[in-house]
Amino acid sequence: MDLLRNVVVLVHIVGFAITFGAWVAEAAAQRFRFTRPMEYGLLLSLLTGLALAAPWPDGIDLNYTKIGVKLVLLLALGAVLGIGSVRQRRTGQPVPRALFVAAGLLSVSAAGVAVIW
Ligand code: HEM
Repeated sequence: MDLLRNVVVLVHIVGFAITFGAWVAEAAAQRFRFTRPMEYGLLLSLLTGLALAAPWPDGIDLNYTKIGVKLVLLLALGAVLGIGSVRQRRTGQPVPRALFVAAGLLSVSAAGVAVIW
C-alpha cells in the first residue's frame, strides 16, 4: 500500500511537471498561450490529489488545511486557464500577460505549499 501511495504521489507530481513544463515552454518561446498539456496536467494533479486526500493506508496523518489550500490554488488555476483559453480562442491572440503570469505563479505556489509548508 505504501508503494502504491508513493506511485500515486509520483503521478501527482508528474501532473504538476506537465502543467508547469508546458507553461515554461510557452514563456521560453515567447508565445504566451495556454495549451492543452497545461489543462491535462492540472486534471492529473486534481484526480491524483483527491485520491491522496483519502487517508490510506491506515494510520496516515494528513494535513487537511494544506490540502485545502492546494485545492483552492488548483481551482483558481483552472479558472485562469479556462478564462484565458476562451479569450485566446475568441481573439486568436495570446492570453493577456497578467493571466499568463498568474497561471505560472499559481502553479509554482501550489508546489511551494506542497513542499515548504
Ligand atoms: C497544482 C496543484 C498541486 C501541486 C503542484 C501539488 C504538488 C504536490 C507535491 C509536490 C506533493 C509531494 C510532496 C508532499 O507530500 O507534500 C504533493 C502531495 C500531495 N498532494 Fe498535492 N499538489 C497539487 C494539488 C493537490 C490537490 C488539489 C490535492 C487534493 C485535493 C492534493 C493533495 C495532495 C496529497 C494528499 C498529497 C500527499 C501528502 C502526504 O501523503 O503526506 N494536491 N502535492
